[in-house]
Parts: sequence; structure tokens; C-alpha cells
Amino acid sequence: MTFKVKDINLAEKGMLQIEWAEKQMPVLMMIAGEFLNKKPFNGLTIAACLHVTKETAVLVKALKAGGATVAVCGSNPLSTQDDVAAALADEGINIFAWKGQTNEEYYWCINEVLNFKPNITLDDGADLINTLHTTRTELLQNILGGQEETTTGVIRLRAMAQDQALKYPVIAVNDTPTKSMFDNVYGTGQSAIDGIIRATNALMAGKTFVVSGYGQCGGGIARIARGMNANVIVTEVDPIKALKASMDGFRVMPMIDAAKVGDIFCTATGCKDSIKKEHLMVMKDGAILANAGHFNVEISIPDLESISSGKRRIRDFVEEYTTKDNRNIYLIAEGRLVNLAVAEGHPSSVMDMSFSNQALCCEFLAENYRQLKPTVHDVPREIDSKIARMKLESLGMKIDNLSSEQQKYMTSWKDGT
Ligand code: NAI
Repeated sequence: MTFKVKDINLAEKGMLQIEWAEKQMPVLMMIAGEFLNKKPFNGLTIAACLHVTKETAVLVKALKAGGATVAVCGSNPLSTQDDVAAALADEGINIFAWKGQTNEEYYWCINEVLNFKPNITLDDGADLINTLHTTRTELLQNILGGQEETTTGVIRLRAMAQDQALKYPVIAVNDTPTKSMFDNVYGTGQSAIDGIIRATNALMAGKTFVVSGYGQCGGGIARIARGMNANVIVTEVDPIKALKASMDGFRVMPMIDAAKVGDIFCTATGCKDSIKKEHLMVMKDGAILANAGHFNVEISIPDLESISSGKRRIRDFVEEYTTKDNRNIYLIAEGRLVNLAVAEGHPSSVMDMSFSNQALCCEFLAENYRQLKPTVHDVPREIDSKIARMKLESLGMKIDNLSSEQQKYMTSWKDGT
């Protein structure tokens, strides 16, 4: 067992955090119980490049219960919860993660994890897979398959598959309904607002809150901000999403117009430069900027630096930029995903579904990798339905079932007017 974490003495605190998460992740805990008996990962090494949170710890423990050797690193330089990392190290997990890494340290950790010669890779943003396909290609021969947790990672992998550069099958966990319809919408929605409030203690009521991108995450953020009595404006590039935002009751306009009136901005586009120089130039004194998308490219930090005469850290996670025309613009968490860098990431109960998908897809890969081509695959429908059923059951909810007559009707074309 090897590890590098910030402070191993934080293990006890981290263990309590993990216990707290376990109580809200009944589906994953049930799957962990099944793994303990079946041992589907005996002899396999799983490398996980995920945000090191208490929920990730529950997943890692489930995989270990299933017989895997697990090696873990963070998927963002600012998202690791140091107490959780210490607890995992203390539990005998190989882990290389701490909060506040340089880019160099971040990739050092990825390479340490790869030194375990994994058979299955778990990514959140595709940095592990990318490193394997660029600088550690000698390890590709050991890999059975991989999994990807987030939208930006899936986009990168589909581009690799398109270029025929992807050398092993990867399951797009992000795209399955029991993941993105809940995790991205309610998880990011709530925790991004939580992060903005923890960083600034800003009052939401009455503020003009600009959300850039009205996809799964942006839609969730916009609705939660509205629920806190903010006046929400949406910016989009997709006419259908823009129309949807409009009919959901939000004002829609280009960023150049929103920039002039916004008090708080949150990007969730997965696209670079969603907020750039021309927008920064017209923002009000006191504007607050946050990002919930995967990489720290959605707000152009080079542009912010270029229009500024100075900056200082005014609070934890808040940088105050003074522009050359003497306005203050506040950037949260260096433009990294605000919900994980400042708050705790998604609530455990929603990660219960995301990480149950990860766990069951690992088992699926271990059993079926021979039949899978080296491209991006959907989560098998049965896994998605199983997780939804288990989640409903854990919430004490029952639903109706189709009778055989109804089932026949719903699949036939003969009955009409
Ligand atoms: P999505 O594809 O559902 O939504 C993105 C939206 O942004 C689309 O509607 C697109 O038209 C719009 N968009 C793209 N470029 C734009 C631009 N320049 N200006 C305005 N709108 C633009 O993707 P999803 O699932 O909402 O993910 C968004 C980002 O959040 C990704 O980077 C994803 O990896 C990340 N993510 C972050 C999480 C977190 O914990 N913070 C959790 C899940 C996803």
C-alpha cells in the first residue's frame, strides 16, 4: 500500500464523513454487499481518477469489497477533500491526492496511479485515459475497459473514438438517465449555488444571476437560483436550449448584454471563453464570477488578468481583481468547479445513483470486455433500470406496473381510433 495525502492525521475526521455519506447511499451500499459475496474484481486493478470526496470513498470501498486493488487520484487540482483522502489511505487504499495541487503535481499523481498497471480505468474528465493514450501507451495492453463520469470527458472520448485514437472500450456513465438527469441537474444545481454562497455569503434574493449554458447543469443551477428569489438570465448558443430556457420562464440574451446587468455569473457550458474580455470590460463593479463546468477555461482568466492592474485574496476562495478602469471583479476558486472547490460537491444521495452506475458498469466490463469494441458505449439499459428501481425502493416509493394487456397495447400498431 502506498499513498501521498496532505495529512494522514485527518483520517478519523474523514472516516466520519464517509460514514455520513454511506447512510445516504443505500443503493451503492447494497451493491457493495453483493460485491463482498461475489468478488467480481478478484485479481483486477482499478484506477480511479475522480474527485476525491466522501461519496467517491464509498465507491472505492465497494470496489475493494469486490476484490479489486484500487489506486486513486483526484480529477481536479482543487477538489480533493483532504480528510477523506487520509481516511482512504488509512483504509489501505493506494491514494495520491491533496487539495491545492500544481499542474505538475496533478499529473504526478495520475502517473503514480498508472504505475499500478490498471485493468479498468474510471475517469472524471478523461485525464487518466488521455495520459494513457499519450505518454503511458505501454500500459494500454493491460486495460479491459474504462468509464467516464462527466459530460466534458465524454465529449473528449467521442472525439478520440472519431479519430480512431481510442484503444479500449469506455462506458459513458455520464450520459445514462440515472446519472445525468439527476446528478448534473439537481446535484450540480444545488452544490454550485452552495459553493457560491459559501465563498461569498452573497444574498441571492433580488440579485441578477446569469447562468451561461442551459444544459443539464445550467438548467439545474438556474432553477435553484430562481428558487432563492434571484432574477435569473440565461445565455446560450443552442437555439433549442435557449427556447427551452425562455419557456421555463427565464430571460434569454447574449452574454454581452447579460454582462452589463449581472451581479453573479455562473458558467456551465463545457466550452472555453464563455466569459471573455469583451464581457469583462462591461461588467458592473462588484460582479462575482464562478464556474461549474469541468475545466477552468469557461471564464477566461488570461483576459481577466490582462484587464486588471492588480489582485488580492480577499476571502478564502475569492480573488478580488481591480481592473485598469478601477472596478472590482471577484473570481471564485480560480475559475475551477465551484461546487467541488468550495463546497462539498454533489449531495451523497444523488451520487448514490451516479456511483452505483460506476460500480455496476465495472462489473459489466469485467464480465463482457471481450465483446466490446474500442469505442464509447452506453450504460446497459438493465443497469439503469435496476438502479432506478433500487433507488425508489430505498426511498420507500412504489409505482404501478403494466398489465400484460397494457404491455401488448403499448407495443402493437393494430388498435387505433
Ligand atoms: P450539456 O451539454 O447538457 O450543457 C451545456 C450547455 O452549454 C449546452 O446547452 C450548450 O449549448 C451550452 N453552451 C456551449 N457553449 C456555450 C457558450 N459559449 N455560451 C453559452 N452556452 C454554451 O452539459 P452539462 O452536462 O450541463 O455539463 C456542462 C459542464 O459541466 C461540462 O463541463 C461537464 O463536464 C460539467 N459538469 C460539472 C459537474 C460539477 O460537479 N461541477 C457535474 C456534471 C457535469
